[in-house]
Amino acid sequence: MKTEDHQSNRLDGQEPAQKVPQLIPGGLFIVFEGIDGTGKSTQLHLLAEKLRQLGYAVVATREPTNGPYGQKIRKLFVDRGSVSREEELELFIADRDQHVKEIIKPALSDGCVVICDRYYLSTIAYQGANGMDQDLIMKKNEDFPVPDLAIILEIEPAHGIHRIQNQRHEHPNTFEEKANLQKVAGIFSTMRQDYIERINGSDSIENVYRLVFEAVAKVLAQKTTQQVES
Ligand code: TMP
Repeated sequence: MKTEDHQSNRLDGQEPAQKVPQLIPGGLFIVFEGIDGTGKSTQLHLLAEKLRQLGYAVVATREPTNGPYGQKIRKLFVDRGSVSREEELELFIADRDQHVKEIIKPALSDGCVVICDRYYLSTIAYQGANGMDQDLIMKKNEDFPVPDLAIILEIEPAHGIHRIQNQRHEHPNTFEEKANLQKVAGIFSTMRQDYIERINGSDSIENVYRLVFEAVAKVLAQKTTQQVES
């Protein structure tokens, strides 16, 4: 991804607001995680919009990216067996490496709020469910920035699949099959990092969003206090 492609991974195509944005030293890094069909993308867009209205410079992005590795990954959704599980993991890591270097780190250094749809907890859950060792996966991710907040949206796998089929009018792909999503959900449920906030994603969009914003307001307040103290 070159600089001009930098914009192409943005989820909304919007430039930061024209008025002078409110910048946060070191930025604020929020990620949305969970199995497929939890409503991550909907919540991410609502949050990005709200934070822009509040005057923050927001970069909304996602993984897999639209870059070269992300495009290779998307091909796996129809033919997962075309690479080994080790190669699959390496593709996600290479995609993240490029994403971090070209989009995430520069935006955080500029003082933006970066909101990312999936990050390394997804690798632990999905490639872990695919048989890769979770400690090895964590080790391969240890040099990437740690999020200030990871919101894990939780729903029953059957509910997630129902949403994929009925709301998005799509057939679940290989990553989204029920047995796989059950394993993935099981791994997400064991995660204990202190930056994780779990929210029940099966409630209405408005109710889920209220909890999402509460969690974000808490980390924003912490960052502001740190700023005042330092
Ligand atoms: P999505 O764009 O609909 O969220 O789909 C991305 C798919 O990629 C989803 O099934 C989860 C999977 N995935 C992994 O397996 N490992 C990862 O590290 C990431 C970021 C996504």
